[in-house]
Amino acid sequence: MGRRMFPPVLMCIVGARPNFMKIAPIATELQKHKDALRLSLVHTGQHYDEAMKGAFFNQLGIPQPDVDLEVGSGSHAVQTAQIMLRFEPVLDTVKPFAVLVVGDVNSTIACSLVAVKKNIPIIHIEAGLRSYDRQMPEEVNRVLTDQISELLFTTERSAKLNLLREGIGEAKIHFVGNVMIDSLLNHLKQAVPYQTTLRNSTGALPQCVLPNGYGVLTLHRPSNVDDPVVLERLLGVVSSVSRKLPILFPIHPRTRKMIEQTRLGNLVKQPAILSIPPVSYFEMLGLMKSAKLVLTDSGGVQEETTALGIPCITLRENTERPITVEEGTNTVVGSDPETILSCVDDILQTGGKAGKVPEYWDGKAASRIIKIVQETILSH
Ligand code: UD1
Repeated sequence: MGRRMFPPVLMCIVGARPNFMKIAPIATELQKHKDALRLSLVHTGQHYDEAMKGAFFNQLGIPQPDVDLEVGSGSHAVQTAQIMLRFEPVLDTVKPFAVLVVGDVNSTIACSLVAVKKNIPIIHIEAGLRSYDRQMPEEVNRVLTDQISELLFTTERSAKLNLLREGIGEAKIHFVGNVMIDSLLNHLKQAVPYQTTLRNSTGALPQCVLPNGYGVLTLHRPSNVDDPVVLERLLGVVSSVSRKLPILFPIHPRTRKMIEQTRLGNLVKQPAILSIPPVSYFEMLGLMKSAKLVLTDSGGVQEETTALGIPCITLRENTERPITVEEGTNTVVGSDPETILSCVDDILQTGGKAGKVPEYWDGKAASRIIKIVQETILSH
């Protein structure tokens, strides 16, 4: 590495929607330490639709990125390769003392691979989560990013055991809590009432929602939406659920594309399934906060519902976030229709399991992280 800039630059990477709420509290914390540390923000452009990107920057108060690599969509190989090609010159010009990545998306591994080959330390936030399912692209991204990271920040204690099993030195691992929950706690007051979101998205407040409340559905994992047979079965269950409880369904672009291509549209065109475009962060907080239950295959939503105390039904065979099941409100049910329906019935009858908020999910993860960065990598 060449001479260090002053103040030294910490380069932070965002690419896809779930990255934005993880970087926001880090950017805010860095602002408090701006005499000692300077933020350089790189957006890879993995997510580019306004609905998947713009509103999040504004609502979360994330500064405009210094660079947008504008990579857009593509196969995993194309997307990862394009990020790497476009990121390398940025790294050469800015010369940060470290590159900070979050989560498990293609942008996370792509930028980490470029940095490690230039001997620039990688800081990984949300390290050590494992589904032990290598069919998930995110699992591959997690394992590889952790292997080449210098500082690994974990959200739950089980993650450390996963990392130790993979041979990662204990001194690199720090349990700090959950930056995603920092964002949630920082912005809960700004949650948009669900009535407003529905009026804005559908033009009116559908009558079916008023007497009984509603559930929220999010679906975008390749294993659930890329195979039309699996997707049809899941949407069939959702249609049965909607006869018990109206379902609000903000549809991810990947899922919308599959529904359109496979003509499964009729399954979501039902009076008690309200399918709407992807919603902003404040709208999503409002939808979750007032829901009777949430059905999801997202990692972040499992954590957010646990923090909010709202019952969550995870439509996957496993979770890399076991604390949400052990302590939180999450139940992992897979895709079997009967299991899903009986879990819904149970929640509607009993209110679901009473969870507690996990250790260190207290809104202070980002400040712990920046303190440790200053005491470790930066002081070397
Ligand atoms: C990515 C992440 C996933 C994360 C999810 C959140 C990886 C491997 N996956 O999945 O971990 O949970 O983001 O959303 O990085 N598209 C648009 N507009 C956009 C973005 C995507 O239309 O702004 C469409 C594109 O057609 C694209 C498809 O959605 O082909 C999938 O996008 P991509 O970023 O490849 O993966 P996600 O499924 O969003």
